[in-house]
Amino acid sequence: MSPELANTTTVAGAFPQRAKRVFIKTYGCQMNAYDSARMAELVAPLGYQAAERAEGADLVILNTCHIREKAAEKVFSELGKMRRLKSARGAQGGAMLIAVAGCVAQAEGTEILQRAPFVDIVFGPQAYDRLPQLIAEAERDGGGVLDTSFPAETKFERLPADRRVAGVSAFLSVQEGCDKFCTFCVVPYTRGAEFSRPVAQVLAEARGLLAAGAREITLLGQNVNAYHGEGPDGGSWGLGDLLSAVAALPGLQRLRYTTSHPRDVDDKLIAAHRDLSELMPFLHLPVQSGSDRVLAAMNRRHKADDYRRIVERLRQARPDLALSSDFIVGFPGESEADFRATLDLVEEIGFAQAFSFKYSPRPGTPAAGMPQLPEPVKTERLAVLQQLLREQQARFNAGCIGRVLPILLEKPGRHPGQLAGRSPYLQPVHVAAGAERIGEIVPVLIRAVEPNSLAGAIVDATAAASSRGDRGAPAA
Ligand code: 5AD
Ligand code: SF4
Repeated sequence: MSPELANTTTVAGAFPQRAKRVFIKTYGCQMNAYDSARMAELVAPLGYQAAERAEGADLVILNTCHIREKAAEKVFSELGKMRRLKSARGAQGGAMLIAVAGCVAQAEGTEILQRAPFVDIVFGPQAYDRLPQLIAEAERDGGGVLDTSFPAETKFERLPADRRVAGVSAFLSVQEGCDKFCTFCVVPYTRGAEFSRPVAQVLAEARGLLAAGAREITLLGQNVNAYHGEGPDGGSWGLGDLLSAVAALPGLQRLRYTTSHPRDVDDKLIAAHRDLSELMPFLHLPVQSGSDRVLAAMNRRHKADDYRRIVERLRQARPDLALSSDFIVGFPGESEADFRATLDLVEEIGFAQAFSFKYSPRPGTPAAGMPQLPEPVKTERLAVLQQLLREQQARFNAGCIGRVLPILLEKPGRHPGQLAGRSPYLQPVHVAAGAERIGEIVPVLIRAVEPNSLAGAIVDATAAASSRGDRGAPAA
């Protein structure tokens, strides 16, 4: 996913010298997208404006992902390209600082500086609040600056309170790190121990985002429903309480949160889905596998039936709730029967969308040391699962045809005169509308399903202003 960074252009004559430009390329999850947006804000006071391309940039930041092998490999191939751009820049008498951020930087910082000595700065996800100092050090010392320290608490305190917003939908990190230690996952090693931001800090940032034009806020955390931040009353607040407080902020129209763990879905969170009209009826709740044997080997701390029960309770609370999930196939020891159990679970639950991956051994994680399944078995199982998930997604999307859904108009669409927005179920939707309507929630009659989106037409413009959620829409 790429962050929607403000695409500011340099106004000739407005600056005594050419304004500096920063290009940030973001890999992986929404947490990285949030971090990239904050990095752009941090370097703005140094004169850096966001650029859409690396060519000609004074600073390039690759904000990396380490979750699967492929994601990490991409970084080194991208660095090869950056090296050529840096040389070209140097040949023209200019300079380009190259920085590697994110989870690959955290996990392989020293190796990056050895393998790619033209990289100037390497910093981990908990150290980016120091970016201005790191840039100054790199400029002074000629590169090779490394910071992979782990102070999540102080990072948030030191980030500027003011937020710039690139769009009507904004991310807000409320929780970082993970203590679950699923045996396949690098997150507890790259992002560190679980940490929740205090409620007052989250609300202050949310108010700032709304004042800057956001209409929708997605609360983020690696394990967001493990949130246990210090409340204004001194007690510990869970995610259900936090969602209620954010939902009550003036100007907030839509609220989401991701990513959750089944083990941390509690009564208050389920009640929030029943009680908060701002909370959208879409939930990404990874299950990973439908087999209890595999779930135990993954150290997921829940069984397949626990997941079924949670989904049932959530659907009782919010009957039109659409579900998304993550799946891993070919985990060490996964038998044909285990894989069948995953397919059975998918058939039973019915997902509106989902992500699925072949198990990828990550260095330093317990599962990497277990006997591995042959690659062709993983490939075959992934194809079967993805076929089933695609069918479910197509069915869910087709079920929206003929319905009127409230669509939050977010940005210009692919064609002139068209805007792109999102349904309550997070589906991208294209409609004919002028740019002045960006930020409105409008009722849209869904007419067609396109490969990656829905298409429709606004049916009643006057109802748009008062339309906040999807309570009026028929159940999916
Ligand atoms: N191999 C394959 N998929 C993985 N994920 C996390 N670690 C691995 C791995 N080692 C998937 C999980 C997780 C999602 C973000 O990425 O499904 O929920
Ligand atoms: Fe990784 Fe498991 Fe933590 Fe999710 S809950 S971040 S999969 S260790």
